[in-house]
Amino acid sequence: MCGIVGYIGVQEASSVLVDALKKLEYRGYDSSGVAMAKSGKEGHSLVVEKAKGYIAELESKIKPSGSRAGISHTRWATHGIPNEINAHPHVDGSSSIAVVHNGIIDNHLALKEELRKKGHEFKSQTDSEVIPHLIEDEYSGNGGDLFEAVREVAKRLEGSFAIIVIHKDHPDMIVSAREKSPMVLGKGVNESFVASDVTALLKYTNNFFYMEDGEIALIKKNSIAVQTLDGEKVERDWTKVDWSVEDAEKGGFEHYMIKEIFEQPRSLHQSLSGWRSDEVNLPRDLVQTRMARIVACGTSYHAGMVGKYLFERFTGMPTMVSMASEYRFANTTKEDSLLLFITQSGETLDTIMAAREARKRGSRTVSITNVVGSTITRETDLTLYLRSGPEIGVAASKTFTSQLMMMYLLSSHMGYNMGSISREELKDVTMCLRNTIRAVAGILGDTSQVEEQAKWIKDFDNAFYLGRYINYPTALEGALKMKEISYIHCEGYPAGELKHGPLALLTEKTPVVAIVSNDHTYDKILGNIGECAARGAPVLAIVPEGDTEVMKYTDRTLTYSDPGALYSPIPISVTLQLLAYHAANLRDCSIDKPRNLAKSVTVE
Ligand code: G6P
Repeated sequence: MCGIVGYIGVQEASSVLVDALKKLEYRGYDSSGVAMAKSGKEGHSLVVEKAKGYIAELESKIKPSGSRAGISHTRWATHGIPNEINAHPHVDGSSSIAVVHNGIIDNHLALKEELRKKGHEFKSQTDSEVIPHLIEDEYSGNGGDLFEAVREVAKRLEGSFAIIVIHKDHPDMIVSAREKSPMVLGKGVNESFVASDVTALLKYTNNFFYMEDGEIALIKKNSIAVQTLDGEKVERDWTKVDWSVEDAEKGGFEHYMIKEIFEQPRSLHQSLSGWRSDEVNLPRDLVQTRMARIVACGTSYHAGMVGKYLFERFTGMPTMVSMASEYRFANTTKEDSLLLFITQSGETLDTIMAAREARKRGSRTVSITNVVGSTITRETDLTLYLRSGPEIGVAASKTFTSQLMMMYLLSSHMGYNMGSISREELKDVTMCLRNTIRAVAGILGDTSQVEEQAKWIKDFDNAFYLGRYINYPTALEGALKMKEISYIHCEGYPAGELKHGPLALLTEKTPVVAIVSNDHTYDKILGNIGECAARGAPVLAIVPEGDTEVMKYTDRTLTYSDPGALYSPIPISVTLQLLAYHAANLRDCSIDKPRNLAKSVTVE
């Protein structure tokens, strides 16, 4: 987690550093800081500012300093509580070198001990503070070569890191290095950038270079040179990213999340129409697989759970779903199946490590991600893109429905290639997906009913979300959305399991959000709604338009236009996103930056 930025060029460094950092606030927001190199009559110096809380706190402390080079950091605490001392940048003993770090240095205790013996003193409780002190030693021992000093230190660090370093006596350069934490370089005219991801830099450039593990970059105003830590020159293509700066702005909406919810007809359409080009490239050997396993975290895991039903429905292949953080530690040593990794950011460390493990176990690996050039694309044999545009709100919305879209497309095309479904059935899938997008547009066309229900649910402390079959994961995702942004405690449950424990918790103070779909589960879920209502729990039923049966049990409903039960997770998820958003907004919650969370979890 944590977001980092480095800048060197012709603009006032503080304004670029803070502006870009704000775009990374989704990666952590408990404290932030900047360090800028400044040259004046008295010689060179470093200006360091830090603040606890949101970046706005830092911004209010910074005055333009005339500096043209600097580094900045927004923090998601791992070692040491959020306060100014633990905030980055951290400096060496002489306050000449400043470092920002994203990741965790596993061997920091041993390094700290070694440095203490040499007389170094530490101010913070962080693992990161060892880095400037190590660089200080290397730098003074190598005759003042900052680049080489960073290289040597990077070789000694264990764990994960993306670091950016600045030295007061070298205001013409910044140095960055990475291992397991994301970092992208950007080039403009007379200026160069480095950041945790491209959204930070879209305002300044579309020209990006994705650093890989074990690489180090020397960044100057007019040049960027990348090498491996072993000293080999790295020459890879730069990538043009076609996201625009407007895509990463709020565009008149109160929050990124609601903007992103409303973007879904477009993002879903982009995923669907983008598929044609991906489909052409689907390798033949994918269809020779006999088993599939989907691996992901968080919301992406819920998309994978929907995918399981779809793979089994369209390909007949037994399909398992695993949480990335669990898959890695399973005892399987050999696995001859198709492994599908779903990760919006492409940077979730558990998912990346799981992909590495899968390759070791002999699997064919495919990733589905939203971010071109992200780490997962290099860790898997094939990548399919969501094409959702950048998502800034911590709680995923449009990328989730695009992930679902990819599940329909990939499973049905694989099923067709394997001979499990006919061409007509395949065409039918595409038609249903188009109707699904229309259903989503319909929900967004009038959100007044869902806003009413949000007013009702916002006052409860606990809630259950129930679904069956393909809408069981929809219930899990709906509950996750509500809990992460409104802080109402919500549990998603397969409706059939209710009797095996949770029913004991139902009272008139525990509302139930029940998803009804027009399929073989219809009667059963209606029965479950009856069971809840009979125990006094208020029920909000999410039902297909025109349904009258559910009225027998509850008169509190939200309807969706049904594109076919198999496709209903998409429109229903949009309804549940809106419900969570409006409840959270009424409760005055920090919607785009929920307490303790970060969008990209780059620690294990
Ligand atoms: C974090 C985010 C979630 C996201 C999960 C997986 O927990 O807050 O919204 O679903 O990470 O992220 P990924 O980028 O791998 O999809």
